[in-house]
Amino acid sequence: MRDMSRPDMSEVTIPPAFPNPLEEVNVWSKIDALHAKAHHLLTTPRAFHRPTLPGREVPVRPLSQHPPKGGLSLKEGRARLLHDLTSIELQAMELGVRTLLEFPEAPSAFREELLRVTLEESRHLKLCLEGLEQLGFSFGTWPTHLTLWNCVSEEDSLLDRVLIVHRYLEGSGLDASDALLRRLTGVKDEKSSRRWCG
Ligand SMILES: [Fe+2]
Repeated sequence: MRDMSRPDMSEVTIPPAFPNPLEEVNVWSKIDALHAKAHHLLTTPRAFHRPTLPGREVPVRPLSQHPPKGGLSLKEGRARLLHDLTSIELQAMELGVRTLLEFPEAPSAFREELLRVTLEESRHLKLCLEGLEQLGFSFGTWPTHLTLWNCVSEEDSLLDRVLIVHRYLEGSGLDASDALLRRLTGVKDEKSSRRWCG
């Protein structure tokens, strides 16, 4: 027998605290449509609008308009060097992704290797950003540049791109690294030296 001292709740409809989104719209069909769109973009050559320049939240200027650099004996000079390297590592990572997206028809072994290299560039970028922070500076303290981006074009073939970015530009960076390492070692900044070797 029902306790008459309590209200009869059996007939009361309690509205849900929040509407169930799965009942409001067909979420799964939207997710399926997004998957199909992403698959199309990633597997169809030239299927999407390619940015010719990346977005940046830091000042961007041609190298000719950058302020003069100080010597590496000063902390600021070493930070400036790391700042320039950060700009290069960021572009190297971005252009690796760009090549992966623009040439989905490339052989899978090539794409896997390029993905590995691109992830390595992201590690270099992280090391540079951490090094800058340790020296008390941040990305954007000085102007940045888009020199690497300006060397590529949406008209590039895959061979063009490999030769320009992944052999010539990155190869030149490796050539320069030895001299930079010796300069940093010369000022006994072992942390930055190890970072560059990293
Ligand atoms: Fe790198």
